[in-house]
Amino acid sequence: MRLDDKTLLVTGAASGIGESTAKRCAEYGARVLVTDVNEPGAEEVAEAIREGGGEAEAHELDVTEPAQVTSVVDAAHEEYGLDGLFNNAGVGHPGQSIEEVDESVRDFVMDVNVNGVWNCCHAALPLLKEQGHGSIVNMSSVAGKLGLPGQSVYSLTKGAVLNFTRAAAQEAGPHGVRVNAVCPGFVDTPMTETYFGGRDDPERAREEMADQYPLKRLGDPEEVADCVAFLLSDHASYVTGHGLVVDGGYESG
Ligand code: NAI
Repeated sequence: MRLDDKTLLVTGAASGIGESTAKRCAEYGARVLVTDVNEPGAEEVAEAIREGGGEAEAHELDVTEPAQVTSVVDAAHEEYGLDGLFNNAGVGHPGQSIEEVDESVRDFVMDVNVNGVWNCCHAALPLLKEQGHGSIVNMSSVAGKLGLPGQSVYSLTKGAVLNFTRAAAQEAGPHGVRVNAVCPGFVDTPMTETYFGGRDDPERAREEMADQYPLKRLGDPEEVADCVAFLLSDHASYVTGHGLVVDGGYESG
């Protein structure tokens, strides 16, 4: 897979799937803008990419801050010309029934997972449409397709991202811009560690979860990264409005 001559911005790129995608895209030849609310973490990832011979620079970016999003996206576009975005930044919440969820948790998760994606698309789409090309990938989840018990707010946000992706694809398509989503199942990242860490027996919880997947294991972040890189690349030039499920067969199981 090649991403030569492309400048790609990844949000939430200091950790997990975002980090793996930033590194993969750089391996495939892209210049990567590694952004995260965790600025030192983003810098570490960018440094690792540069040490490996790739091109990357880090930017502090909180996706819930529209002014900051606009400023980083505008600057990147002015300097390099943006070819694509991976709107990956997201947060989870403890497993709770709907009636147990505190409003502050709901608002926080909605703000990062939904408004964050919105803010980034709102800032980037006019620029990509004007230049007549570009690819956006938004981070949804199997939770956004199926709805998971105990994960009501998370499911709400990821379903919203998926449907927003379809709407955005229809608006952007006539301008040569593609918008897709990825819908991973459980992937081994710090977020998943926190999820299992909250269980009485984390190791057993992980094994039981893996057992629900036809492939009998959780996903690796690199396996999602490669799917995102594909959607960002010209190899996916006729793919838009799609939610690519990357879940080891969970949805079909
Ligand atoms: P992670 O916790 O390893 O990484 C998330 C990154 O997002 C962190 O670097 C964090 O600093 C950053 N972040 C959080 N709030 C932010 C904000 N307001 N602005 C900018 N950056 C922010 O998590 P992971 O697992 O890599 O998740 C990445 C995305 O993938 C999330 O949207 C998550 O919902 C989604 N996802 C994860 C799955 C999994 O099993 N790990 C499955 C399906 C979707």
